[in-house]
Amino acid sequence: MTGVTARVPAKLNLQLAVGPPRADGYHDLVTVFHAVSLFDQVTVEPAKRDAVTVTGEGAGQVPGGQDNLALRAVTALRAAVRDRGTGTPRVQVTIAKKIPVAAGLAGGSADAAAALVACNELWATGLTQQQLCEVAATVGSDVAFALLGGTSVGRGRGEQLTPALVPATQYHWVLAFADGQLSTPEVYASLDRLRTARSADPGGTGGAAVPAAAGAAEPVLDAALMSALRAGDARRVGPRLSNDLQPAAVSLFPALRRTLKAGLELGALGALVAGSGPTCVFLAASAKRALDLAVAISGAGVCRSVARVTGPVPGAAVVSA
Ligand code: C5P
Repeated sequence: MTGVTARVPAKLNLQLAVGPPRADGYHDLVTVFHAVSLFDQVTVEPAKRDAVTVTGEGAGQVPGGQDNLALRAVTALRAAVRDRGTGTPRVQVTIAKKIPVAAGLAGGSADAAAALVACNELWATGLTQQQLCEVAATVGSDVAFALLGGTSVGRGRGEQLTPALVPATQYHWVLAFADGQLSTPEVYASLDRLRTARSADPGGTGGAAVPAAAGAAEPVLDAALMSALRAGDARRVGPRLSNDLQPAAVSLFPALRRTLKAGLELGALGALVAGSGPTCVFLAASAKRALDLAVAISGAGVCRSVARVTGPVPGAAVVSA
């Protein structure tokens, strides 16, 4: 076999409820993951040593060597199957990116998931999706979801997944890519600071945009969002989109406030920051409305570029071997 290519989607969080920081530095989450039709492709081929090459959107900003999540996934899978007796030859990993880097869309995690699926095929290790999910969880919080795709509730760090029992409704989204990036750890740290400031000054204006102190209590799944998703009703989903990281992302990247406002004024059913940002996400009522919205947001000059995507879509899968 010469090489294996896997395709993997970006993710949105339709809800992202964040608890207080844990002893290990992570935050317990309750999130509704939703995979959308913006795909990276990852090819693995036998090589003399493990190495990674990146092309496409934001390629220059993707770390190389073992800082690269896809290479870390290769190493983690090799360690996990060491006792199986199957060969795990070194690989050249080639990533063709369409998912922007550090944009809140879990592009790095997606590439790691695609590398797992592709190496599982190349090495004929035969791990089940559940076993791959266990390896994925050691690589990053969002990697397991990139394997699964669809719409799923994530708990723990985000790696404990339960597929949502929702009908096959297709949602139409417009993504507004920002002119810049945000670091996920910095956004979480900023949220902690905003919450600390708010609890020290509950009546003050400083934390006005941050959910009440209860926002830092145990995160809870939004029953109204789940009901809207079960009904497959975009008009009810729109107003229920929520992201506890949004005030932190906006405080670090104030231009997002204008982008979110513009999208809502231009007719989006709902708007939110994607994950830790800075991509902004807008829900449209139909494919036609999404096209109109994308054109209007682009014309308003409130972002670097726009893309129309649909969701949910399946997770990482081999496309050619
Ligand atoms: O798991 P992953 O490496 O993708 O997480 C990146 C960073 O995001 C973590 O180092 C941590 O700072 C933050 N994070 C968190 N709580 C989570 C997920 C991520 O604090 N549940």
